[in-house]
Amino acid sequence: LCHLLTIEGLNAALIHSILDTAESFVGVNEREVKKVPLLRGKAIFNLFFEPSTRTRTTFEIAAKRLSADVVNLNIGASSQSKGETLLDTVDNLAAMGADMFIVRHSESGAAHFIARHVAPHIRVINAGDGRHAHPTQGLLDVFTIRRYKKDFSRLAIAIVGDIMHSRVARSEIHALTALGVPDLRVVGPRTLLPQGVEELGVRVYHDMEQGLKDVDVVMMLRLQNERMRGPLLPSAGEYFKHYGLTPAKLKRAKPDAIVMHPGPLNRGVEIDSAVADGPQAVILPQVTYGIAVRMAVMTLLAGSST
Ligand code: CP
Repeated sequence: LCHLLTIEGLNAALIHSILDTAESFVGVNEREVKKVPLLRGKAIFNLFFEPSTRTRTTFEIAAKRLSADVVNLNIGASSQSKGETLLDTVDNLAAMGADMFIVRHSESGAAHFIARHVAPHIRVINAGDGRHAHPTQGLLDVFTIRRYKKDFSRLAIAIVGDIMHSRVARSEIHALTALGVPDLRVVGPRTLLPQGVEELGVRVYHDMEQGLKDVDVVMMLRLQNERMRGPLLPSAGEYFKHYGLTPAKLKRAKPDAIVMHPGPLNRGVEIDSAVADGPQAVILPQVTYGIAVRMAVMTLLAGSST
């Protein structure tokens, strides 16, 4: 694997080997991630053309824990504002000695575009492109599920909300189907489910109470308002009534079900604070595990020769 652009096409063995490597980076105390010299001398550039709190910061922490040099390009203050193209920006950063680019962009395919362009020794990781893919989020989500639930072959999992505009949902679906989850559901209003989503290997529910019945894992999604126009956009109150995760709706899931969310949360829109801050939520552990998973991905790519 040269670049990580999508989870689509990765097999279970490769995904498990990334998760096993991530496991080796998690400290004895789970909140403590070890520092190692594996990427000493490598220059990693964070190129975030869309806002981010979790992904950008955990990539930076992960790179530092691997002893790499990390540069965060401040896009707003860069020469993009003077008309420099994406590829010219990338070429100039490559001329400064970049070994790896972590790319977030509003256009689907942006990371692929860069990966096709760069010299063969440079690695590219997609940190979210439009509505297409967010592979490291998908990997940290399955890492979290493996930690709490162990065996994917027995699980019922519901992904709830705005599937249509969600790169996270796509990456989760590819990862969970590759790992053999037998009962994978998507739950949401017709307007927010892409046509033909069943072909990805999921069962579709429009009624949340039915969709959550007896699941082991509830994965909530934010309404991607920035990718919607006009009539698609539901009112927050109406949406919460039908698809907001409340303690009452969560009772439909198994009693030991875990609740996940990639963040950022919109409290009172897709999730009630009583659930987000409640005992079944593993939303903050997801963030912590993101460091170890991103360390694993960067180590794997840096060590690959093709
Ligand atoms: N989950 C996620 O991608 O969060 P950020 O947008 O804050 O990086």
